[in-house]
Amino acid sequence: MKNEYILAIESSCDDTSIAIIDTNYKLYANIISSQLAHNDFGGVVPELASRLHLKNISYCMDMALQESQINLEEISAIAVSINPGLIGSLLVGTSFAKGLAWSLGVPLISVNHMLGHVFANKIANPDLQAPWLALVISGGHTELVEFESESKFQIVGNTVDDAAGEAFDKIAKILNLGYPGGPVIDKLAKEGDPNFHKFPQAMNIKDNYNFSFSGLKTSVLQYIGKQSDEFIQLHLNDIVASAQHAIVSILVKKTIAYATKNNIKKIIVAGGVSANSYLREQMQAANKKLKADIYFPPIKLCMDNAAMIGAAAIRKYLNKEFAKLDLNAFSTKGIKEV
Ligand code: KG4
Ligand code: ZN
Repeated sequence: MKNEYILAIESSCDDTSIAIIDTNYKLYANIISSQLAHNDFGGVVPELASRLHLKNISYCMDMALQESQINLEEISAIAVSINPGLIGSLLVGTSFAKGLAWSLGVPLISVNHMLGHVFANKIANPDLQAPWLALVISGGHTELVEFESESKFQIVGNTVDDAAGEAFDKIAKILNLGYPGGPVIDKLAKEGDPNFHKFPQAMNIKDNYNFSFSGLKTSVLQYIGKQSDEFIQLHLNDIVASAQHAIVSILVKKTIAYATKNNIKKIIVAGGVSANSYLREQMQAANKKLKADIYFPPIKLCMDNAAMIGAAAIRKYLNKEFAKLDLNAFSTKGIKEV
């Protein structure tokens, strides 16, 4: 059978990305242009993000076509993430996708960005089949989601305030470690003692699968305020390792507890925080009794990228679930079918 290629577009936050994938999850190109301009501001500046998407998106497409050696005329569908995210950023990708789909005369497929993170796991494991439990952890989301099938799922746990990635970012900001905070904390913590200081693990209650991370940030702020600069300098690795331990322990505990209670033997971890090395280690360590199959995306596919948007679009493409050209983008949070 002839290969059917999907060109996928991601522009929900500060990464402009275009990928080409086929319906067997084979990836031909995944170009990511990360907007470093936000680093100076300690977080993403929405208007700057939209303008950089607008500037870079067609270059990303040209590079994806070049790298894949696939022509635009060979593309069978255009997939785009339409929510959640920064609305100005999403509108750039969505408009670009519509223009492309219309001019090529091919179908348009709308994708929820968080579902994209989950389906990034199918690129490395195309045979992965639901049911599974997904822990979706990114800069804006912390959701525990039980999938009955690829299209039928329910959120069984959620954050009541900050997301896990947001906690990493805010703690890094307190310690002047730059943005995003996750990768640098992950690296420094490798040389630190996770039990150096006991930071609080909020909502550590049996049969409760919600999360809260804003208290941890406050606790780190208060702890830092009480220490001398010399002490912080000397114990920076220990402090970040202890804060990371607090975030990771509660994520692992609740995921394994839910899977154990409901006898779920397949766990998928997804989103930017799934790149965290301590989380990967701790999740496997906590799985000794349950013996579930635990999947993490390849590191390159943990953070925002268009390959995952293409992967999430495959089922819709095969089922002919296409969007109309009046498709809109929206910023509403959460994993959902769109
Ligand atoms: O999924 P993502 O790229 O964007 C959103 O959809 O939000 O996630 C970005 C988040 C940031 O908060 C970043 O600090 C976090 O993922 N992150 C990490 C690591 N790499 C990225 N957090 C912990 N450890 C990491 N290695
Ligand atoms: Zn994301």
